[in-house]
Amino acid sequence: MKVFITREIPDIAFQLLKKHKIPFEFYKNDSPIPRKILLDKVKYCTALISLLTEKIDAELIDLMSRCKIIANVAVGYNNIDVKYAKKKNIIVTNTPDVLTESTADLTIALALASARRLYEGESLVRANKFKGWKPKMLLGVELKNKIFGILGAGRIGTAVAKRAHSFGTKIFYFDRSQHIKLEKKINAKKVSLRTLLTKSDFISIHLPLTKLTYHLFNEEKLKLLKTSAILINTARGEIIDETALIKILTENRIRAAGLDVYEHEPEINPQFLKLKNVILLPHIGSATEEARNAMAELAAKNVINVLKGMRPLTPVF
Ligand code: GLV
Repeated sequence: MKVFITREIPDIAFQLLKKHKIPFEFYKNDSPIPRKILLDKVKYCTALISLLTEKIDAELIDLMSRCKIIANVAVGYNNIDVKYAKKKNIIVTNTPDVLTESTADLTIALALASARRLYEGESLVRANKFKGWKPKMLLGVELKNKIFGILGAGRIGTAVAKRAHSFGTKIFYFDRSQHIKLEKKINAKKVSLRTLLTKSDFISIHLPLTKLTYHLFNEEKLKLLKTSAILINTARGEIIDETALIKILTENRIRAAGLDVYEHEPEINPQFLKLKNVILLPHIGSATEEARNAMAELAAKNVINVLKGMRPLTPVF
């Protein structure tokens, strides 16, 4: 019985596996595991702990004849061919809940940073260009009384909505389901996608990446946004057509964008780097000590449960 882990993750996972006397091995370099090595390693493991940087596709799954579980250390699992894993009787788990607060915090940080032009201000100070207070320098906008539109009112979307509400925004949400509790608690309003796009001052994406959400934000939809709109993405980069977003930002057709994820991650379209009205972060939504430890712990617990013949804690199907 052997667990293969595709990269070094927080120690708590290793401690748990040791405590349960489950042998494990991890890829020791601090970069994504080369495909060739991964293809080889998965042949021998009974459990795989993977990260969102690895593509777990049919080719790989076909080699995993001994594997019982793929435990992804992420809430999103678009990197895994879940249908194929299911067909091959391999359980897939993710790490929901434990990263909700961290990701929601970062979303609000991006909203505030975009609204208050923190990147421009920081750059100005570092370039030694701050020559004193000016009445009209770097004017931004307040959150109070703005419409904050949430796309996807799941765990993270809801946590963002509550935070945004506490800043005095009116919450609009677009979701398949109606969220009565959210509506009662913070007076959130369920609206159509079109209403959300045309009326919101802040638009924050909290949808999984699927065939339906790929390039949901194409040029046509981006053109519906208000010129004062701020678009935030802490979900998956492919939900936005980046070429279209760059065009819209270059033409100043929206106020700003705050991005933590990219269409061709980790590649960043060089056009973004020329723009002042976009804040660019390196996919750090869940990057807090609390969340990353809890994610590693949950992935290890899922593996331990399955290898001991028990139910996983957080299966995706
Ligand atoms: C991060 O992007 C995650 O899906 O956990």
